[in-house]
Amino acid sequence: MIGAPGPHPAAGSPAVTRLKLTGFRNYSALDLTLDARPVALFGPNGAGKTNLVEAVSFLGPGRGVRAAGADAVRMKTADGPTPVWAVYAEAMTRDGAVSLATGSDPSDPARRRTRLDGAAATQGELARLVPMVWLTPREDRLWAGPRADRLKFLDRLVLAGAPDHAAAATAYDKAQRERQRLLDRMEDGVRVDPAWLDALEAEMAQHGVALAAARLDALARLQAEIDARPDNAFPKADLALDGVVEARLAQGMKAGEAEDWFAASLQSARRRDGAAGRALTGPHRTELAARHRSKDQPAADCATGEQKALVLGLALAQAGAVRRSLGAAPVLIFDEACAHLDAARREGLAEAILALEAQAWLTGVEASLFAAFGAGAQHYRIEAGTAREAG
Ligand SMILES: Nc1ncnc2c1ncn2[C@@H]1O[C@H](COP(=O)(O)OP(=O)(O)OP(=O)(O)O)[C@@H](O)[C@H]1O
Ligand SMILES: [Mg+2]
Repeated sequence: MIGAPGPHPAAGSPAVTRLKLTGFRNYSALDLTLDARPVALFGPNGAGKTNLVEAVSFLGPGRGVRAAGADAVRMKTADGPTPVWAVYAEAMTRDGAVSLATGSDPSDPARRRTRLDGAAATQGELARLVPMVWLTPREDRLWAGPRADRLKFLDRLVLAGAPDHAAAATAYDKAQRERQRLLDRMEDGVRVDPAWLDALEAEMAQHGVALAAARLDALARLQAEIDARPDNAFPKADLALDGVVEARLAQGMKAGEAEDWFAASLQSARRRDGAAGRALTGPHRTELAARHRSKDQPAADCATGEQKALVLGLALAQAGAVRRSLGAAPVLIFDEACAHLDAARREGLAEAILALEAQAWLTGVEASLFAAFGAGAQHYRIEAGTAREAG
């Protein structure tokens, strides 16, 4: 057994201390009181482990680990769906104890609304108060899968240390969609005021450069953290960003110049992007590349277990980098992260999480997967939408 028993609020990392679910997925009612230690959830397939960590992921920015809509999480029973669902939590954050509530919007059940201490919460506030890093079985295919998934993963890592990243990404996407709507109209032969396009491209340039700069900054910290870590259960990765704006900033171009350059390149690509139906270059197309250092191989060429260990190592390193820069580690959600790890790696994972003093939420089918945490974690047996504390 490793790790000291008992809560460890010393690091001041955010932690959920109470979690109440009502009519959420397969939980009709659940009420857990927790401390700051990691939470290990074990139980059979279909018990509700992922549902529970999904509820936790709803406390941070974004759409949660399954990117589910508000209607999907509403409990469905033989008598039909429950009319309302809610996730209520109390959490320790950098601003002290807060309450977070998220649930179906009474005026529109397809929407979810989130309140922080009773007032409407923005994505940026959630990102600042409850930074999160999560891994799900989906990330097992991160290196071999589509580029867009890697970029999303990267942006989530960045967001854990830079809450403003959410607003920049939203603003960039909005300007990009509006520009595309205008370009589509031009394709259809409708006359569009070029000043309108200029304004949208200036927006894209401003927010796109902010996105790229935040990614570069986060990547540099992440790489430094990886390099500084002792060689443990997780292989070291060499990371690189391949993006048009990132490349210019990396070469030393000033932010203002990069904005001008990107706005001009968007302007000259209007016809091309109109014909393609989307913007073909920009920070929304950036690629995150990783190499397995000791094997000197691209991550995508590594064995399945090695690829998984690389992603896990990245998530842990990012948690370490955030803790180093902000003094608090993000909440970690590792759904089925132990599934393919051998005993030594499981021990390495427990050791790394306990050293971070982060509240990590882990799931797995067997209690034994979390034995290495000992009293350093809170263990719960999940069964048919219920949770029972296990010793
Ligand atoms: N909206 C919903 N209403 C009721 N039940 C739901 C809803 N959505 C999902 N479920 C059910 O919740 C159950 C538990 O799902 P969950 O994915 O949390 O299981 P799990 O414990 O993570 O299992 P595994 O070990 O297979 O990953 C499933 O049987 C699923 O059908
Ligand atoms: Mg699951």
